[in-house]
Amino acid sequence: MSFPVQRPRRLRVSENIRRMVRENSLSVNDLVYPVFVCHGSGQAHPIDSMPGICRYSVDRLLRELEEIVRLQIPAILPFGLPNKKDAAGSEAYAEDGIIQQALRAIKKEYPELTVITDLCLCEYTDHGHCGIIRDNYVMNDSTLELLAKTAVSHAAAGADMIAPSDMMDGRVGAIRSALDNNGYANTPIMAYSAKYCSAFYGPFREAADSAPQFGDRKSYQMDPANSDEAIREVRHDIEEGADIVMVKPTLAYMDVIRRVKDKFGCPVAAYNVSGEYSMVKAAARNGWVDEKRIIMEILTGIKRAGADIVITYHAREAARWLRDEL
Ligand code: PBG
Repeated sequence: MSFPVQRPRRLRVSENIRRMVRENSLSVNDLVYPVFVCHGSGQAHPIDSMPGICRYSVDRLLRELEEIVRLQIPAILPFGLPNKKDAAGSEAYAEDGIIQQALRAIKKEYPELTVITDLCLCEYTDHGHCGIIRDNYVMNDSTLELLAKTAVSHAAAGADMIAPSDMMDGRVGAIRSALDNNGYANTPIMAYSAKYCSAFYGPFREAADSAPQFGDRKSYQMDPANSDEAIREVRHDIEEGADIVMVKPTLAYMDVIRRVKDKFGCPVAAYNVSGEYSMVKAAARNGWVDEKRIIMEILTGIKRAGADIVITYHAREAARWLRDEL
């Protein structure tokens, strides 16, 4: 049966009818806000390529988080900038490391805010790679020990969830058993399972000062041309104990989000990354796109693709708009 019996436009005639048949909607509950933390006090350094985003010292970050908590954004994802870097990324698992300090302060001030820690070594190594290097190669198994150690130190400092983003094989299993053996059996793992080797991370590497000093990340992050491989990566992570799996980036990978959701039916997070944010901001600043509409369209599209959780630098502004609409 088709036209004129079928007239799809009938269900678009009014806002109320459109609301009634709407299939997906973005909620503040879906959002995770990434933040950058540095040492010192009173620091707020804007990141040129990411308008609206700063690196904050812990005291200043606490002030910013007041609004995040008020908006009821459920979680933040802090990234740390250490004072010193070395070959083994030792500030990543130091007792007084920047993330450990931030965790203690945040959990004290805002115990109700969920803090998910990105677990990786690239911000802490002097060579900028996500693991231990030997002969210009990122060593898998020796890196696992450091990741497990870092995960335990995050949990001990108050992390509510651990999000490994390094893409070493077997890291979810290694982190799960380290957490379990140290009394953190209830700390969930959100695994960056299908993390692509992407040019969209460019602005983040400026923000987190984590660009590799030689070579690239192609021997550990995924080839953008692949999606069967994403299914295998996700399966491994679930088998090793991941509670939430992630696809990253989003816009060029919407099909991967959908495949993962359909195949596994588990909670799926999608990371709307720095370059995706910067492109929108640049176009909006030039007056080329309607900023609010384009951001809400992107975030709703990520949900429609199958994500339950959207990690985005737009979280704060999107939450403000969603609250205004209530
Ligand atoms: C750490 C990490 C990166 C991002 C999140 N965790 C950078 C990278 O893999 O090079 C990127 C986030 C973004 O671009 O917003 N490995």
